Amino acid sequence: MNNFSFLNDKPEYRSFAKDCIDAEAAFKNSYDSCVKLVRTALDAAIKWLYAAENKMPSDNLFDMIENAGLDKNLADKVHYCRKVGNAAIHNEQEFSADEAKQCLKNLFDLVQWIDARYGKNFTPRTFKSAENILQTELCGIKLNTPIFAASGTFGFGEEFESFVNLKRLGGVMVKCITLKPRRGNDGVRITETPSGMLNCIGLENPGVETFLTKILPRIKNKMNIIVNVSASSVEDYGKLTKLLDVDGIAAIELNISCPNVKDGGIIFGTDERQAAKVTQAAKKSTSKPVIVKLSPNVTDITKIALACESAGADCLSLINTLMGMDINIHTWRPTLGNITGGLSGGAIKPVALRMVWQVANAVKVPIIGMGGIRSVNDAAEFFLAGASAVAIGTTNFAEPSITMQIADDLEKYLRSCGLKNIRELIGKLKT
Ligand SMILES: Cc1cc2nc3c(=O)[nH]c(=O)nc-3n(C[C@H](O)[C@H](O)[C@H](O)COP(=O)(O)O)c2cc1C
Repeated sequence: MNNFSFLNDKPEYRSFAKDCIDAEAAFKNSYDSCVKLVRTALDAAIKWLYAAENKMPSDNLFDMIENAGLDKNLADKVHYCRKVGNAAIHNEQEFSADEAKQCLKNLFDLVQWIDARYGKNFTPRTFKSAENILQTELCGIKLNTPIFAASGTFGFGEEFESFVNLKRLGGVMVKCITLKPRRGNDGVRITETPSGMLNCIGLENPGVETFLTKILPRIKNKMNIIVNVSASSVEDYGKLTKLLDVDGIAAIELNISCPNVKDGGIIFGTDERQAAKVTQAAKKSTSKPVIVKLSPNVTDITKIALACESAGADCLSLINTLMGMDINIHTWRPTLGNITGGLSGGAIKPVALRMVWQVANAVKVPIIGMGGIRSVNDAAEFFLAGASAVAIGTTNFAEPSITMQIADDLEKYLRSCGLKNIRELIGKLKT
């Protein structure tokens, strides 16, 4: 969007031009900042108007808008920006893309009105609201982009707030939650590998009660929250999903694929009947969409995928980490405290891509593809293979704003292909 750039050519508007341009530029990074900056810009524009009319300004913006000589319709639009801008400044509310866009549009109408009255060479302009070609939908959830943050690599989302516009993400799959708190595995939990990493965190988490009472209230309006859950019995998966059937949670992701703990669900992810039972138990206990996260540590992933789909899964996400290990040749001991760990990062991308392609050809439900995505090229490959959305995991550690970079680059890539929406890329692999 470049709706305010024409102000650069009109020195008479110097006192509010930069504020308008900054407000529009902030849209990508944070809707809240955008709304705040619109409030700053309109304050400057109204003051400019008072100066042009030789009227005495006051400290009260409400009164200034009322007495600025605007017609009722425009005054209402400007009051809207003032009101939501105040709410943003006092952190009373989190704002959506639509609300931020509305503020920019209203500010634009004010600027146009000023230019029509006082401008030297007035040209009527219309507000161009950039089509969000990444906007899509998954299991009824509206997504600003089809880019998620993968569970276990993004905390509870808030840790990344200064790097990422959380509302621009499709959602955050928060760290795995279990019924009781878990302290995770002892010893070394992470080691680097060529083009990837091995981890055996062991599902460390504060437990569902703390999540619901302490964490969820803090994060609930900041992003689409997908809660990743793990349990050691079918009944416990049911109990967990029931407890999480509350406001502020967009979907549940069943982790039936953690390779790093004996009771972490892997048994359910490697057996079709067990996978179906867990899916059914979750579906019965929640009104939320259920995403089942598949393990790559199987012979034929499509069998598990089909079993989950038949049992009612709304969506499948894949892949979790591949079982691996590393040995210290000086101590002759395993590097990781748990001996084995889960391999993630660039090294697993070809395997993940192959599995997404196989599963996409076998099921009808949408797929969230993940595994080694480091760039827009990687992401585009997953869409072509049939993923409706992608999730980024390990790359977040080295590049905390990678999700935003991929969103920006994906938009450019789609435009360069002449596509009007991300949906036009999904499953378009030519074989
Ligand atoms: C340190 C770490 C912790 C993880 N924790 C979880 C978890 O709690 N639940 C889960 O389903 N997947 C977990 N994963 C797997 C990731 O969500 C993702 O499926 C996997 O790492 C592949 O994606 P990537 O190569 O982009 O990291 C974890 C991965 C890493 C590296």
